[in-house]
Amino acid sequence: MKEIDIHTSLIVYTPEELPAEEQALIEAARQATHRSYAPYSHFSVGAAALLADGTIVTGTNQENVAYPSGICAERTTLFYANSQYPDQPVKALAIAARGTDGKEVHPPITPCGACRQVMLESENRFGTPMKVLLCGVGQIYVVESARSLLPISFDSLT
Ligand code: THU
Repeated sequence: MKEIDIHTSLIVYTPEELPAEEQALIEAARQATHRSYAPYSHFSVGAAALLADGTIVTGTNQENVAYPSGICAERTTLFYANSQYPDQPVKALAIAARGTDGKEVHPPITPCGACRQVMLESENRFGTPMKVLLCGVGQIYVVESARSLLPISFDSLT
């Protein structure tokens, strides 16, 4: 018997500590929350992807009366980015959310398992780390690679 320890780490920044490019990405994710379609949960999530060529693509959670048919903001954004720009690695993904009171969440939300799997695939297909910025009021959780959010992942059919 042996035990394997798996470590992951994130860094918590104040927004001002981040480069201007990342601050702009965070602002895009925050603005996107206002375009969420969340009539059931009233929880509005926005995501913004920064592509290698500097393009920013945003998306939001899209709910449905048949609840499981809805999709999170992260997957809306990444599937759209990868559909429209199949040759552009996603360098960074910012995620912001407003709760049922309409106010930005504090601390940040962290992505669901399905979104982590999709982030990892997007990272792997380009071979480029995707920085993930989880936005809360006055604090941004940053991981340097989507892989950090999904250790011991399924990533091979062989
Ligand atoms: N949601 C996201 O869009 N991203 C997350 O990281 C967590 C949850 C959405 C799904 C659903 O529309 C609402 O938030 C409540 O769970």
